[in-house]
Amino acid sequence: MTNPVSESIIEDVRSRTDIVPLISEDVVLKKAGRNYVGLCPFHSEKTPSFTVSPDKQIFYCFGCGTGGDIFTYLMKRRGVAFMEALKVLAQRSGVALPEDIQSDEEKSRYRQREMVYEINQLALKYFTAMLKDAQHGGAAAAYLERRGITRETRDLFSLGAASPQWDGLLQYFRRKGIGEEDLATAGLVIPRQDGSGYYDRFRNRVIFPILDMAGRVTGFGGRVLDDSLPKYLNSPETPAFDKSKNIYGIHLTRQDMRENDQVILVEGYMDVISVYQAGVHHVGATLGTALAESHGKILSQFGSDIVVCYDGDAAGQAAALRGASLLEKAGCSVRIARLPDGEDPDSLIRSRGRDSFLQFVQRALSVTAYQLQDILEKGRKDTADGQADILRKAIPVLGTVRSVSERDVYIRNLARTLGVREDSLRTDVQRYVRRGSAGGTVTGVRPGERKIPAQKQLLPAHEKAEQALLRLIPEDPEIWMTVKGALQPDLFSTDAMRRIARACYDLDAGGSRVTVSRLLDFIQENDPEMYAEAARLYIDEEDVHQLKNAVKDYIQVIQDFQQKEELQRLADEIKEKEEKGEQVQELLSRYQKLLRRGKGGQS
Ligand code: UTP
Ligand code: MN
Repeated sequence: MTNPVSESIIEDVRSRTDIVPLISEDVVLKKAGRNYVGLCPFHSEKTPSFTVSPDKQIFYCFGCGTGGDIFTYLMKRRGVAFMEALKVLAQRSGVALPEDIQSDEEKSRYRQREMVYEINQLALKYFTAMLKDAQHGGAAAAYLERRGITRETRDLFSLGAASPQWDGLLQYFRRKGIGEEDLATAGLVIPRQDGSGYYDRFRNRVIFPILDMAGRVTGFGGRVLDDSLPKYLNSPETPAFDKSKNIYGIHLTRQDMRENDQVILVEGYMDVISVYQAGVHHVGATLGTALAESHGKILSQFGSDIVVCYDGDAAGQAAALRGASLLEKAGCSVRIARLPDGEDPDSLIRSRGRDSFLQFVQRALSVTAYQLQDILEKGRKDTADGQADILRKAIPVLGTVRSVSERDVYIRNLARTLGVREDSLRTDVQRYVRRGSAGGTVTGVRPGERKIPAQKQLLPAHEKAEQALLRLIPEDPEIWMTVKGALQPDLFSTDAMRRIARACYDLDAGGSRVTVSRLLDFIQENDPEMYAEAARLYIDEEDVHQLKNAVKDYIQVIQDFQQKEELQRLADEIKEKEEKGEQVQELLSRYQKLLRRGKGGQS
């Protein structure tokens, strides 16, 4: 190969870079049918003729005729050569280039990975040929037919068969001159106990090749043709097979995920295939492995609505809840679809049809709503004890909802369902959250520092005003402007309030609108010790609207207080100097000036 980087790396980068977000970094794009349009960055124009196709991953300007793919875009935009553009995009998408791979260890791992891809590609050919061979693959073909998989679907997913022989695959590769040890590296053969060579890992099974986004074969799964165990065998971890990154079907379905802006995540091979065959193409599976943050990262590139749709049994539902909570914490927007007990997507589609399946997907619930529903279903609404038990379980769940308005919706619904008073439930939740943060170690407030006290009545007026303003800042951009113009964060009187105020200013300086959720995220990231304090401050939403009318008064109270403090400080200093017999002229005039300014209400 003369090219310093292999085609496979270029494909790797391409498969991990979506052209729409890439170009959106410097062009405002608007959806227009299947494409996006915007003002061309390569010539000056007033009406948008610059077009980006997410399907084809290319751009073209009807005004100036510039066009190309992600690489050409970057080359033209930055005026750089191909290698330079590749470097930028490789880094952006987390692909290591050969010249970045320094150690021998890494180099050999890289070569091994490439080798495994090649072997896997050949193995896929072998398995698919076997499925079409009546003698060796007849049983597997009959099995697939029994399960309603059409020939077209078989071909689309490159399904295959492993014959019952112990060395069918070994022999095939022997003829190709590929050694047993390399096959073992690819996980396709297993060494015999007695050390006398190797035998095929997959025998007498239907074979499901697993492809990555770039269409490379990373590994295989194999299902028995009857009820024997284990039901599935999978490739072991190899240089090319990483379970935490696998999304089965992604090479076929990611475009549809994007178009639907939704990802239906199922558990197994057969679920993906069945759902796909029924005409629902935006689907993928994690193949029985626990969902990890890495899966979330991949999936959220393709759709903003991830719907976890696992088996309806207890195990499937527990896995769905665990996985969905994890993805939610990782910042994905995720919902859980709940199938009837005993059904998985494959069986449901076969028994009730595609539309019924889609209804379940559509009715998927947020993690919180799902948990509340579960608590309600398992509890007894008709007895006082049962109700109390439901509330005990539901309050902590409600306490985890960050958005105040969202939490309100859940509180209202639950109160209505249980027939309890909405404000009592709200108070309970607020109390729970406060207690949770005050009692736990999360606050991390050092001893001696004052927290933001919960009982406002006991606060001095200026602290009360400061607290009110902090709470009002995210409510209304105009209030924020007023506060920003009048007060500096360092002048808030407690450490906690100073730090929260500082976060508002920093967030604003970073160009972001200050909202409660952004502020909390920002604090969690930049000043995690303050997170619980801030959550506590913002969760307390009673009378926030009443507070709005008093913004000017609050600022006045704070400024008066600050002025009084300053006057006191000056007075002390004057007294001290006088006692020592020093000059106080200058301090006195400052004192007078400050006193006069206070009357004018200007700080
Ligand atoms: P399921 O048991 O739900 O399998 O396991 P399935 O896909 O619905 O298969 P059918 O319908 O019984 O044929 C879900 C996934 O868990 C993994 C497989 O990836 C499977 O698709 N699994 C399951 C294994 O890896 N090994 C096993 O023994 C069982
Ligand atoms: Mn199944």
